[in-house]
Amino acid sequence: MQDSNFKRHRRLRNSTAMRALVRETQLSTDDLIYPIFVVEGDNIKKEVSSMPGVFQVSLDNLTSEMHELVQLGIRSVLLFGVPKQKDEQGSQAYCETGIVQQALRKIKQEVPELITVADTCLCEYTSHGHCGVIEDGDVNNDASLQLMVETAVSQAKAGADIIAPSNMMDGFVASIRKGLDEAGYSNIPIMSYAVKYASSFYGPFRDAAESTPQFGDRKTYQMDPANRLEALREAESDMEEGADFLIVKPALAYLDIMREVKDRFNAPLVAYNVSGEYSMVKAAAQNGWINEKELVLEKLTSMKRAGADLIVTYFAKDAAKWLNE
Ligand code: PBG
Repeated sequence: MQDSNFKRHRRLRNSTAMRALVRETQLSTDDLIYPIFVVEGDNIKKEVSSMPGVFQVSLDNLTSEMHELVQLGIRSVLLFGVPKQKDEQGSQAYCETGIVQQALRKIKQEVPELITVADTCLCEYTSHGHCGVIEDGDVNNDASLQLMVETAVSQAKAGADIIAPSNMMDGFVASIRKGLDEAGYSNIPIMSYAVKYASSFYGPFRDAAESTPQFGDRKTYQMDPANRLEALREAESDMEEGADFLIVKPALAYLDIMREVKDRFNAPLVAYNVSGEYSMVKAAAQNGWINEKELVLEKLTSMKRAGADLIVTYFAKDAAKWLNE
């Protein structure tokens, strides 16, 4: 007996081909940005203990890593530096011979087809581990801006294709835009960490980048996870200041925010699938509790469905392999 009082949604799910035909969201290797930690020293490829499969890599090992990305069809890499020397002002962040500046020159020379995104922040370079200059026990906004501009310009000079400021100082997009323009880099886009929450999901990253704050936390500059309207204010001011891309970070617990930002602002939206989100999956997979491949592809697809155009993810290489299968 046919009951016509209800809809038969299963009609559109009844075969692999039918499901492919009606699929609304596609994940592609073109969407992926792979983060990498470049460390000072020779012949280093050191696994981060809390991030299985993620390594700190020295300059001499960088080119082979980059070739692997290109072979997998990944177009873009996000660079973090792990310097030997740290100081109060984070001077290795904006030094011409800084580790990221050296890495940028090397990649541009040897693997020029890769898009290099430079994370612009001070926390990996400061002795106190905060993202700016400390005055009276807190990060001083305007004093930190000047160092962010110097860092961005030195990265552009070294060959960065995109500047990605992440220290959450007010006005960083405006300051960096002005600094880049004055230095002759008006064609270099800014990918702003516009909406960045003070999140426990960053724990493993701070092992990888050796950037744990030595006192206090980042709550006076990163956002309160409870807030939604504040995210819209942050995105709005960054757009007004000239951001070319907007990042929402972390990703999974903030898909609602991603959707709202995507619906309101007309700029490519980047999801940052952060370290803690990676480590949780790896730990469960190592215990045999989940199917890693299916879970990772599901969550990356969910980020795209929520509005992300691009995804920064430590799973980029794995995902590319799976997508190429
Ligand atoms: C630098 C920065 C951080 C991350 C990206 N850029 C750390 C932080 O803000 O503490 C975190 C990335 C991750 O957890 O994967 N400020």
